Amino acid sequence: MSDSAHQIRVGIIGCGIISTNHLVALSKLPSVQLAAVCDIIPERAERAASEYGCAAYTDYEDMIRKEHLDAVHICLPHYLHCPVTLYALRNGLDVLCEKPMHSDLSGAEEMVRTAEQTGRKLGIVFQNRYNPGSLLAKEMIEEGSLGYLKGLSGTVMWHRDQSYYDAGSWRGFYRTAGGGVVVNQAIHTLDLLRWLAHSDVSDVKASVSHHGETNVEVEDTAEGIIRFESGISALFFFSVNNCSDDNITVTAYCEKGSIRIQGTKCLVKYKDGTIVESQPNPDKFYGAKKIYGPGHSIQIAKFYDPDCREEIRNMTMESLKTQRLMDQVFRAAGKPIQ
Ligand SMILES: NC(=O)c1ccc[n+]([C@@H]2O[C@H](COP(=O)([O-])OP(=O)(O)OC[C@H]3O[C@@H](n4cnc5c(N)ncnc54)[C@H](O)[C@@H]3O)[C@@H](O)[C@H]2O)c1
Repeated sequence: MSDSAHQIRVGIIGCGIISTNHLVALSKLPSVQLAAVCDIIPERAERAASEYGCAAYTDYEDMIRKEHLDAVHICLPHYLHCPVTLYALRNGLDVLCEKPMHSDLSGAEEMVRTAEQTGRKLGIVFQNRYNPGSLLAKEMIEEGSLGYLKGLSGTVMWHRDQSYYDAGSWRGFYRTAGGGVVVNQAIHTLDLLRWLAHSDVSDVKASVSHHGETNVEVEDTAEGIIRFESGISALFFFSVNNCSDDNITVTAYCEKGSIRIQGTKCLVKYKDGTIVESQPNPDKFYGAKKIYGPGHSIQIAKFYDPDCREEIRNMTMESLKTQRLMDQVFRAAGKPIQ
């Protein structure tokens, strides 16, 4: 029997910007064979297929019918996440879906229910949890290295002009995207704030608005405060109206200092003013899988690792909580997403 007989057959649906991260990560996994890719724009599917040596489709149902796949990765506009996930799960496939789960909360809940009913594996990509800086901050808070956690803050100040929305018109509308900066850029920051708080959300106060010159419906600015049941709160400010992409920051304020996640790094500031830049030991976090690098590659490798099944399921339940938090942000701002 050839090696490919033992490999997991995978297809990618959606060959836009983020699909490259999936293609690269899959090409490094010996247990996986990229069998096919699909995009409604034929040239996109054909380009990826010729680069990675697989079949090209323009209809995902056709691809699933013909390719005997074990799993698909969903790299589609948000409003398609739920229907395509349900189709794949009901046809016996595992699904790794890009963030957010769906453009609204009810679609996300249906995805989790269907995964449970079908017994298939459902993963949601939140790769920033696997950044070394995120892992170190989480570890320091859990160990209490800087004393107890007093509160958190998160900022996203990026630049997205009209060309970004023109490149994928679905991004500009609530129906197709489910939101703007909150859903597309700051979702990772909201997820990290929730993860570090390690507590359920009790209340959210927020406002969302469109301040920029782009001709889109969705918000480009959001600010607010999340209160957690533990008693701490997280302040946030997100905007894509900055003149350039600045570092995303997530800061944990502790009894004896603060820990700021900035990209892959962590800056630890002690009460006496000393600042220590910490780079975690990659071996500690990546183990045998460090060749895959951070982010998408780590999470995709875990998705196919039988030992990580429980971790993937927990991440999916966490993703649902982050989807609920986004829903709370929009409700608090008087713009419920339906
Ligand atoms: N994890 C991250 O940090 C990260 C970063 C960027 C994007 N994303 C997510 O990835 C997803 C895709 O985003 P993108 O920026 O790559 O978008 P994109 O617009 O560049 O790509 C989407 C692709 O889907 C194709 N498509 C649309 N309808 C289809 C259908 N019915 N069947 C097959 N193909 C179809 C489009 O033609 C397009 O090529 C979104 O969920 C987005 O939020 C995640």
